[in-house]
Amino acid sequence: MRFLVTAGPTREHLDPVRFLSNRSTGRMGFAVAAAAAEAGHAVTLVAGPVALGTPPGAARVDVVSARDMLAVVQAHLPGADVLVMTAAVADWRPRHMAAAKLKKAAMNPVIELEPNPDILGTLAPAKDGRLFVGFAAETGDPLPEARRKLAAKGLDLIVANDVSRSDSGFAVETNRVTLIGADGTFTPLPLLTKIEVAREIVKWCEAQRARTTEAT
Ligand code: CTP
Repeated sequence: MRFLVTAGPTREHLDPVRFLSNRSTGRMGFAVAAAAAEAGHAVTLVAGPVALGTPPGAARVDVVSARDMLAVVQAHLPGADVLVMTAAVADWRPRHMAAAKLKKAAMNPVIELEPNPDILGTLAPAKDGRLFVGFAAETGDPLPEARRKLAAKGLDLIVANDVSRSDSGFAVETNRVTLIGADGTFTPLPLLTKIEVAREIVKWCEAQRARTTEAT
């Protein structure tokens, strides 16, 4: 299969040196790219600004903002069978980006924002038999929100993740997640390293693809 994987945060610049972003390090997405490549799949990895080396076998495209990420994912979607959106896409961007560094005296203490496109939502009409996998990173019980996003974003699988735990989520090597499939499958995984979680996600996609191929 051909995997298209997004990873990391996006940055939404106010000026050339300041931006809005989040704590994502990209480790989960890079692990998915590594696991898919190690299983013999073709992998394109679309990465926000992160400090990680490219997994062997993956073709990497670096992006900065949510709009950059949307454009690159949209361009690569026709050549993909699976889209795995692990990226923590910034939902908002500053309405104005200054071309030169803003000076303190000239800065407005209120930042006006406008919404970024929802990448999964924008690409849903082009899904066309592809598998779409999303992540729901929540503080607290992630299951209700994960189920809502699975349906709202028309996903095949959502990976529910409580990022408020010290052993799970941002900037740690481990994750405790539950895989929730649109087909009703519900798979709570134990505390695993991110590469182990990634292998489970890749296996789920392989099994799902095998089921749909058998059915046709
Ligand atoms: N996502 C996306 N485009 C966005 C925001 C999120 O494609 N602009 C994707 C993420 O990569 C993830 C899934 O949607 O796979 C859920 O992301 P999340 O940030 O949890 O969802 P939101 O829709 O932003 O919901 P909320 O902020 O209300 O939790």
